[in-house]
Amino acid sequence: MDVKILTLDDFDLKGKTVLLRVDMNCPIDPVTEEISGSKRIEEVIETIKALSEARVVVVSHQGRVGNTDYVGMEQHAKILEKLLGKKITYVQDVIGSLAQSEIKKMKDGDIMLLDNLRFCAEENYEFTPENASNTIMVKRLGKLFDLCVLDSFPSAHRSHPSLVGFSHVIPACAGKIVEREVRKLDEILTVAKAPHVIVLGGSKVTDRLEAIKMLIKRGRADQILLTGLIGNVFMRAQARIKYPLGIKGEEEAVAKAHALMGEYPDVFFTPVDVAINKDGERYELDVRELNKGDQIYDLGPKTIEHYSRIISSAGTVFISGPAGFFEKEKFSYGTRSLLEAVANSMATTIVSGGHLTSALKKYGLAEKITHISTAGGALVLYLTGETLPMIQSLESAAQRYKPK
Ligand code: 3PG
Repeated sequence: MDVKILTLDDFDLKGKTVLLRVDMNCPIDPVTEEISGSKRIEEVIETIKALSEARVVVVSHQGRVGNTDYVGMEQHAKILEKLLGKKITYVQDVIGSLAQSEIKKMKDGDIMLLDNLRFCAEENYEFTPENASNTIMVKRLGKLFDLCVLDSFPSAHRSHPSLVGFSHVIPACAGKIVEREVRKLDEILTVAKAPHVIVLGGSKVTDRLEAIKMLIKRGRADQILLTGLIGNVFMRAQARIKYPLGIKGEEEAVAKAHALMGEYPDVFFTPVDVAINKDGERYELDVRELNKGDQIYDLGPKTIEHYSRIISSAGTVFISGPAGFFEKEKFSYGTRSLLEAVANSMATTIVSGGHLTSALKKYGLAEKITHISTAGGALVLYLTGETLPMIQSLESAAQRYKPK
């Protein structure tokens, strides 16, 4: 591995009280408030098993304040318990006296899950490692642990206290997911061939816009094929969609998209046709025929064919975010076809994000992909060559705490 970080193999874990920071941020059905995809919970099992002789306190965030996916971790605890076949003590607290006293009572082999880290205000802000180590969260909990295991690759681009603060005051190492991701991605990045084709969809538009420019500048994006909500934003910037889409921060996003297309006129591709949802039925139409209120649920056939052709002549393909509502059979055509094009190409292929990871499994394509990661935004930034804050904090921790 290129970066110098410690792993679980560098520590004697028996009897240690370990804080395990994972990313179990799952999609939540806005109506039922239930977890609709548990891929990220399945992933953390490997690291928890590797810590079987320790006392493990698992922590994660879920959703963003104000969004419908901002819920507690009770369901996560139940799913974890089922997957592990072992009791998980769920504590409905993060930094209060209940959490602290329950941690102190733990015995070797016990596993505990605390509540949503973002229920603590501090966990919603970015800090320098030093300031993060002075937060109430790190001051209160830090002293209860012997080791901090950072295994939260999908949030490695955030510098929240749990990701960069604990590792500043106690020994820290990577868990199994982070170890694997970093090793595999570094291998891929050293051999990645042009043309680099990026297929970008999903809903976190603002985050993606920030990363796109860096990807282009650093030679990691020769062609960017846009789908999903971000595709719609670019179509608005091209005045091919003539009405507001109703998304948060839309006008700023449209202005940024417009500027990017002006600066890099040959890089971006947007859909020429889409499928809309009308009373549950699929209607395909040219983008110019769209009207206010039309619900875009998928790509149309011409766009899929065009994008698939570009993918088939790529040297490296990175695909992140679904092309539409693939969970609904009638609107899965775009996501499925693009994943098939990626799987069947001769390129080095990276598939990113929880949705696409589940889709790959559903369509039986996972075996044909070079690297699959449940990370979204963090992975996009990793590909730009940036050292992500969580990885940086692991590197600093490795300098500070050299195990014997
Ligand atoms: C993700 O899903 O990308 C990570 O869990 C990070 O979530 P965030 O974008 O809300 O910080």
